[in-house]
Parts: sequence; C-alpha cells; structure tokens
Amino acid sequence: MRFTQTFMKQPKRFTITAALPYTNGPVHIGHLAGVYIPADIFARYQRMQGADVAFICGSDEHGVAIPMRAKKEGVSPQQIIDKYHGIISKSFEDFGITFDNYSRTSAPIHHETASEFFTTLYKKGAFEEKVTEQLYDEEAKQFLADRFVVGTCPKCGFDESYGDQCENCGTSHNATDLINPKSTLSGTPPVLKETKHWFLPLDQYEGFLKKWILESHEKDWKSNVYGQCKSWIDDGLRPRAVTRDLDWGIPVPVEGAEGKVLYVWFDAPIGYISSTKEWAARTGKDWEPYWKEEDTQLLHFIGKDNIVFHCIIFPSMLKAEGSFILPENVPANEFLNLEGSKISTSKNWAVWLHEYLEEFPNQQDVLRYVLTANAPETKDNDFTWADFQARNNNELVAIFGNFINRVTVLTHKYYEGAVPKPADFSEEDLQTLKEMRAYPEVIASSIERYRFREAQMRLMDLARLGNKYLADEEPWKTIKVDAERTQTIMYVALQISAALAVLSEPFLPFTSEALKQQLEFANRSDSKLSWNQVSEEKALLPEGHVIGKNALLFSKIEEEQITQQLEKLQASKEANEMTNSKIEPQKETISFDDFTKMDLRVGTILEAEKMPKTKKLLVLKVDTGIDVRTIVSGIAESFTPEEVIGKQVTVLVNLAPRKLRGVESQGMILMTETAEGTLVFVNPDETSMKNGSTIN
Ligand code: 2FM
Ligand code: ZN
Repeated sequence: MRFTQTFMKQPKRFTITAALPYTNGPVHIGHLAGVYIPADIFARYQRMQGADVAFICGSDEHGVAIPMRAKKEGVSPQQIIDKYHGIISKSFEDFGITFDNYSRTSAPIHHETASEFFTTLYKKGAFEEKVTEQLYDEEAKQFLADRFVVGTCPKCGFDESYGDQCENCGTSHNATDLINPKSTLSGTPPVLKETKHWFLPLDQYEGFLKKWILESHEKDWKSNVYGQCKSWIDDGLRPRAVTRDLDWGIPVPVEGAEGKVLYVWFDAPIGYISSTKEWAARTGKDWEPYWKEEDTQLLHFIGKDNIVFHCIIFPSMLKAEGSFILPENVPANEFLNLEGSKISTSKNWAVWLHEYLEEFPNQQDVLRYVLTANAPETKDNDFTWADFQARNNNELVAIFGNFINRVTVLTHKYYEGAVPKPADFSEEDLQTLKEMRAYPEVIASSIERYRFREAQMRLMDLARLGNKYLADEEPWKTIKVDAERTQTIMYVALQISAALAVLSEPFLPFTSEALKQQLEFANRSDSKLSWNQVSEEKALLPEGHVIGKNALLFSKIEEEQITQQLEKLQASKEANEMTNSKIEPQKETISFDDFTKMDLRVGTILEAEKMPKTKKLLVLKVDTGIDVRTIVSGIAESFTPEEVIGKQVTVLVNLAPRKLRGVESQGMILMTETAEGTLVFVNPDETSMKNGSTIN
C-alpha cells in the first residue's frame, strides 16, 4: 500500500459504474474502448489491491430508442430488449468485463427503486409540476419526446439533433428548443399541445454544482469533463422535465399521471443503484454502504455524450434525495472513430463485438490491447484495421509473446521446466530485478489517474525490459561455457515472466490467465500473487518450481484477415450510398391554395458571415427586391461566406421569422443536396434575374 498512500487516500470501498448500454442494438468497439475496458481495467486493478469493489452495470431498456428499434424490426419493444440484452451481456462476458452485477432496467427491482426515488423527491417538493406546450404529432397522435423528434440544434446548428440531446455537440436541451423540428414517426412538423409534466429545477442546483464541481474538482477531473460542466453551468441551467408522454417506461407514480412515464435519463442512472441492490441481495451484502457512506468512492465510467447526465442531472437528483454520496470522479472518454468515420449503428459502420469473436476466435485480448492503446482518452481517436494488425504483430507477438516464448522454451530445454538455482547476481541482474520491482508502482500511478493507455504502455515496457535482458545476456551462448551464469540469467528472466503474468491481468486477462497456467502458478504456495508482491524481493517463481508446457500466447494476424475486414466495411459503405441515393418518395398532395401561399422570389446574397461557435450556420444579408433582410442558413459546411456573396438564390420570403442562436431569420433560401450530401443552389437561371422576380 506504500504507493497508494502517496497518490490518494486508500478507500475501503469502490462503487464503479459503467454506462448502461441501450438495448437497441449490439455493442461495438466504440463502447468497449470508451467505457467498458477502462472501467474493467480499473475494477480488476482495485480488486488486486485488495479493495472492496462493486462493479455495476446493466441494460438500459427504456426510452424512445427501444420502441423505435422495435418498429424498425417489426417486433415488440419487449422482444427488442430481450434480444439485445442477451447479445450485449454475452459480449461483455466474452470480453472478460468483470461486472459484479449486470442487471436490466426492466427488472422489477429497478422499477421499484426508480418509482421510490421519484416518490421521495415528489414528497419533498423537489419537482415543479407544470403544464407546458410540448411537441405533438397530429398524424401519429402522440407527443414527440426525445428521439421521436429531430431538428436543428439551437447551439451548434447540427440538423439531426434529437429532442433531448444533440449528438454533435453534446448539449442537452428541451425538444421545444429545436429549430425546424420534424417528427421521426410521420416526418411531419409537429404542433404545440399542452401537457402536464414534472420538472427538476436545475437552476436551483447551480450554487451546489458550482461549489461541488467548479470549486472542488478542477484539478482531479479530466479537463474534457470539467470543461463541459463549466460551460453548462456558466451558460445557466434550466428546469428539465423528468417525465414523458409515452407508453414505454416506468409509470409516473403519482395520481393524475396516467399515460406518462419517467424520462429514461431519470430512471437509467438509478439503474446503478438497483443493480447494486440486486447484487447485494444475491451475495448477502448490504447495498447501502456502497451508495451512502462517505468513505466509498463512487466512479462513473462513461462516454462524452453522457457527461451532462452524470455530472449535472444525476448528482442534482442525488442531492435532492439527500442520503446519497456524490461521484468522486467521472472519467469520461471522447469518441472512437472507425477508419476515419464516425461509428454508426444505423449505417452499420462499426465492428460489432459478437461478430469480431466469430472472425477472431479467442482473440479478445488483441482487441482489448489495441483499443486501450488507442483509447480516446483526451481526444477522439481512430481505429484502423492496419493498426490492429501492426500492434498485434509488432507488439503482442514480437515483444510480449516472443519474450515469454524464449523464456519457457529455454527453461524446458535446459532444465526440464524447473526454475534454476541462481548463482551470484551481476550488476545488470540486480538492476533488472530492481527495475522490474518498480513496475507495480509505475503502472498503478497511471491507472489511478485514469491514464490507461500510458499504464498499458508501461506494461509493455516491462516485456521490453525482459527482451533486452535476454538479448544482452545471451543465455543461448553462455549455456555452452558457463552453466552457473546461465542459471542466474534464466532465473531472472523467469521472475520477469511471472511479473508480466500478474501485472497484465487488468489489461490482458485471458493472456494473464494462460501465462499463469503455463508458469503453473497453481503450484506456488500462494497461488494468487498480488499486485504489490511483484515489488517484493521474495522470488515470484522460486528455484525448483516447475513450469508447464509452453504454448504461444499470441499469433500473427495475416494480411488476408485484414483485407476481409476492410471489404466488409466497404460493403457497408456501398449499401449506405445506395440507400442515400434513393429518391425521396413524393410528399402528400397539397392544394393549389397551399402552393400559392408560398411567396418565392429571386434574391441576391449581399453579405455573408459565419455564425460564431457553429459549424453549419451562415448569417446572410439578402436583397429580395422587396427589402434587404437577414436569413440564417445551414449551408456553412458546403460554402464559405466568400463563395456565396453575389450569388442569386431562390428565397421563400413569407416564412414566419424565427430566432436561430439569437439572430432572427426572415425567410429561407432554397437548396438541393447531391448524393454525396453537398448542397447546391437552386438558381433561378444562369442569367441574372431582377431581384424580387416571383417564381411560380
Ligand atoms: O448513452 C447511452 O447509451 C445510455 N444508455 C447510457 C445510460 S448511462 C446511465 F445513466 F444509466
Ligand atoms: Zn448541437
């Protein structure tokens, strides 16, 4: 424990949560890299340190994502959650993610826990009950919560933002904030309709959040996490509805709330608590210390799109309830891309875990290794199959595997598998053993600061140390001339092999297990070597200990396997292009009167500038012939301001004005989109037209 005292107070208990994945699809490499591998490394490491760990997760089975997927697959929401809960939990198990409990939010214990939580807050008067106007789809005859509506994000201009959150900039907003909202059920623009909901007045928690995050966690939280929190708090928080008009979810447990359910982001984080309760009941423990005692460290491992929910909303709920501890840290990661493009479930641009295992059977550790080596810890990162192959062949096979193979083969060849008796240690031997004994502390220091890439790099440095030692000492040469010297060299090399078996466990659990078996750890008097024992002077493998048969830990990945994967991705890309190039079906018929209501004119763009802090929006000054007016247009990804100045455009001049990021837009310019997604002007004609000319 020497080390941990230097870096942090040694806690008795850890409650480690990993984001509950939505059961609307299988899990892919992005999930594994961003959340589950780092959380698993941390949990495994803490267990090896002797800490009391509850590593908690489960399936997120509510929210609009589920009925949407059900509709797409033509089955019931229940069938969807059962199917994907099965696939996801199996993937986690297959990849060695050691949750102490993996639950699901459809479980009765979760429904009870979430209802109780809501009721407690309700009775405390923590909610504001308000009748407000919400988006309603008149065709589908339902309110449009969350993913049932898309529109332009009021913060960044992304035009596929969901009702509750923009996937592009991470902002969480109310559906009524969206610009040009469109129902994903019928494709029509929604109307506003009154409905009653319960709101968590986040504005009342600003003081608490400022003190707790901004004043206390600037140093120890990752800068991406702290920065996002600061920007939300500085922007000012607003009350958030925690209930929805939906028929899928946990019924709101108060009178007068028929047909309403809890907002998925209200119930999902409570899922961590109900999963802990389920675990405690199963193992005869008390769940409460894991959530209520100050000496417990609560840590949430999540992706960056979940930061607001885990740092602002859930802590405010916990604070309102009053008896819970708050997270000590929220080590959120950025996103992992695949071959240069954003991973997308709907576009099938992903490496699915269950498919990976069919194509690379028993090679979980290779993927774990590559994903940790490329973990998006401080910025978005890219997974490429070429890098996957290179890291396997040049690092796992050539460094780690090669070292172990040389040591075990030579031990069998020279000593029939028995650890030889060392003679006098040379300066190099002593220095090498000293370096080896420093690794538990070095690796731990990185893990405890959530720097898992760095930690794994240090682990590989230990394998490099072993390789260098063998290359320098050349036991295959000394064996011919100096038996005693060879014994000492092989003894030292065997200690490094044992150290690798122990310290690789959090990162490469399958390899660690295989190596422990090869080295016959079971035959040691204390078969479970702890992390810190590697630092002790006592031999990890004492002389006379007999190791088992050697087998290769890693094997080369051939060019052909990589080509196959790239071809698979290419096929997804082509299928997407086909779908995108499909002509949109004709919209509903409109009357002549409807058409004549639109006043389309020829206009000229006089001025153009980027809307600050947005990617898509340009603020234009357009001469419509009637007047010169401001129009905000989402074309900045296709044109620079300079390119559009002087262009003639078709303008819808009698569209009701609307505010976009504080600027009033007084009309709309018409554009069309190419198959590649680039915008093109719908020009009146090549020849110059008089501004204000009507288009009929
Ligand atoms: O983003 C997601 O996939 C959510 N299902 C994460 C939920 S985390 C928690 F709060 F449960
Ligand atoms: Zn946005």
